[in-house]
Amino acid sequence: MSNREGILAGLGPLLSPKASIVLPSDSKFASLAAVESDVQQTVRYASEHNIPFIARAGGHGATKALSQAKNAIQIDFRSLNHIKLSEDGQTATIGGGANVSEIVNTLIGLGKRTVTGICESVGFSAPALGGGHGWLQGQYGLMADQVISARLVLPNGELVTVSENCNSDLFWAIRGAGHNFGLVTEWEYRVYVNSAPSWSWEIFVYSGDKLEALYDLANRSLQGQPPELIYWGYIIKVQEIDPDHPILWFGVIFNGSPNTAKEYAKPFHDIGPLSVQIGQGSIHDLAVATFQDADGPGCAYGMTSLRYPIGLKSHNLTAIRQVYNEIDETFKKVPEISGSFFLLEAYSTQAVKAVGPKSTAFPHREDNILVTSYIMYAPNSAIDHIAHEFGKRLQKYLLEGSEDPAHLRAYVNYANGNESLQEVYGWEAWRLEKLRKLKAQWDPENKMRYYVPIE
Ligand SMILES: Cc1cc2nc3c(=O)[nH]c(=O)nc-3n(C[C@H](O)[C@H](O)[C@H](O)COP(=O)(O)OP(=O)(O)OC[C@H]3O[C@@H](n4cnc5c(N)ncnc54)[C@H](O)[C@@H]3O)c2cc1C
Ligand SMILES: *[C@@H]1O[C@H](CO)[C@@H](O)[C@H](O)[C@H]1NC(C)=O
Ligand SMILES: *[C@@H]1O[C@H](CO)[C@@H](O)[C@H](O)[C@H]1NC(C)=O
Ligand SMILES: *[C@@H]1O[C@H](CO)[C@@H](O)[C@H](O)[C@H]1NC(C)=O
Ligand SMILES: *[C@@H]1O[C@H](CO)[C@@H](O)[C@H](O)[C@H]1NC(C)=O
Repeated sequence: MSNREGILAGLGPLLSPKASIVLPSDSKFASLAAVESDVQQTVRYASEHNIPFIARAGGHGATKALSQAKNAIQIDFRSLNHIKLSEDGQTATIGGGANVSEIVNTLIGLGKRTVTGICESVGFSAPALGGGHGWLQGQYGLMADQVISARLVLPNGELVTVSENCNSDLFWAIRGAGHNFGLVTEWEYRVYVNSAPSWSWEIFVYSGDKLEALYDLANRSLQGQPPELIYWGYIIKVQEIDPDHPILWFGVIFNGSPNTAKEYAKPFHDIGPLSVQIGQGSIHDLAVATFQDADGPGCAYGMTSLRYPIGLKSHNLTAIRQVYNEIDETFKKVPEISGSFFLLEAYSTQAVKAVGPKSTAFPHREDNILVTSYIMYAPNSAIDHIAHEFGKRLQKYLLEGSEDPAHLRAYVNYANGNESLQEVYGWEAWRLEKLRKLKAQWDPENKMRYYVPIE
């Protein structure tokens, strides 16, 4: 009996009638899981037979380790997407396979909102397990900060609940290093009254020569940034605007009235933009305006998408200029990757910093800016190496220009797998010690090894 037939015969009878097993013609097995017990049965089966397993939710994961999951059972979580408000309306239970748009839209219908990732087709669980950045983090904290408890299928198939009172060490670990420990079938998660459903933004486009003026102002603006305000920048090539060089796209985004947004946006007019787009609307409209809607280029599937993150305290103009020039030159030399973009996210951070830095496994609470390249191209192994070196160089400029060039801080959900464990999980020695101890306790055989594994 082949491996595949063996899986059909062995695992099939263990699953609920809702589940089905799909054997695609490529080297990956996919098992469609319908209910929590199916996840348990599949994980137990895979573990006993030494078959690698991974979860599939939004499908946007892209670390080196994920690509090494060959002949794996891919457990499709997408039908585990229930969202149910608790009686007091302060929390919701959310299925481990839900995606951003499902949660945002369902909660809006219930008069609520909460912290999620930005791109609408990104899954909910994977970002939360690594910390989870989003538009509302300045007001409420990271995604991980909203978690009250989680139901976790361990690598041996056992189901445990983790919370402040129950397996509290594991609860600590899954809020920052969570991809290492188990599969979350359900979250108990904080939600809030949707008190400010309206967003306002002014989006500026500048030519490259305005870089110093723009990021000097952006750097100064970080000082008085209120929790409702987000600064969001791209360096990107837009043929129709400038056929020769990348442009600077810069959004001033405010959760509230256009009049207040206007106040914060005012100084950005003085730099001399090529264009300004003033908008107002729902969170979905904001996603469209920032290319992060389900159909937007920022959320595209099917491309090779390499990320090289760095967390920063402030902007260094010399370093951003080096980044810009490198992008400009490389796009000309390697046109295949000229659809890439470079992202400078300056979310507000008040509620993120209000949480004790040691209270979760998320190590980067002191950072103010999250930067990464998204090097995108149609899959082509001939340029993988060039793209990797390009991404590393861009990251290096910013690191060398940072206040602490010896210690890169790399957000796990943007990591590409080329970082050290300290860079991803934190430089304070106790962090990795604690994580390694918990890893040995909860996943001694390192079955959860496909997403920046702790080793
Ligand atoms: C366009 C784009 C926008 C992004 N925007 C944001 C953002 O706004 N904020 C942010 O913080 N990050 C963001 N990210 C990064 C994002 O957090 C990671 O890419 C994440 O891995 C995506 O999760 P997914 O469910 O879409 O992908 P998947 O590939 O389905 O999952 C990624 C990994 O998580 C594991 N996983 C999935 N579900 C579960 C579960 N229930 N339990 C345990 N493990 C699970 C999988 O096994 C896999 O290893 C973005 C990424 C992209 C590509
Ligand atoms: C997100 O969920 C919605 C609603 O279930 C679904 O229609 C959509 O296809 C999902 N998006 C992705 C990218 O999976
Ligand atoms: C950016 O702001 C920081 C303070 O947050 C300051 O130390 C630094 O000098 C500023 N950089 C520039 C280029 O003005
Ligand atoms: C900015 O980056 C440059 C180049 O790496 C570096 O020489 C300089 O010291 C940095 N400036 C600040 C204020 O950190
Ligand atoms: C990172 O990439 C370099 C090549 O640029 C390689 O030599 C190194 O081994 C990689 N490190 C990790 C941890 O993958």
